[in-house]
Amino acid sequence: APTDDDIRDVIAAEKHRDGPLLPILHGLQARFDHIPDTALPLIAEALNLTRAEVHGVVSFYHDFRSAPAGRHVLKLCRAEACQSVGADATIQQVLAHFGLDAFGTTQDGRLTIEPVYCLGLCACGPAAMIDGKVLGRADAPRITAALEVQA
Ligand code: FES
Repeated sequence: APTDDDIRDVIAAEKHRDGPLLPILHGLQARFDHIPDTALPLIAEALNLTRAEVHGVVSFYHDFRSAPAGRHVLKLCRAEACQSVGADATIQQVLAHFGLDAFGTTQDGRLTIEPVYCLGLCACGPAAMIDGKVLGRADAPRITAALEVQA
């Protein structure tokens, strides 16, 4: 796990900016693949914010994770165009297939499933992204088949 000093390095690198909070959070996510809970009070102190303010920003942006991701990351689009072609049902089927009741990481650490809000593939939804590669017309069988071939 990242130490407080590792976290302070990232804060120090971005703190001079105008509006430093988002750059700090992006820096932490880039370096540690998540925003460690222990970073929140350090950021609050450095920027003279309350912890609640920092937490509010972290939870507002879906790109920030509170724990490291699994070996593979599946993002499922929940925005309007995909919802109108059955994204919600697909999401429920895919989560159930991998034994999850909500977005998150499987127990074996193999897969993290996260929501995303538009992947720019609205014309061929439901849309998904697997390890950075987009997949259109992503119904549950197509998604699970694409993931079966990944180690
Ligand atoms: Fe899903 Fe745009 S709404 S890709």
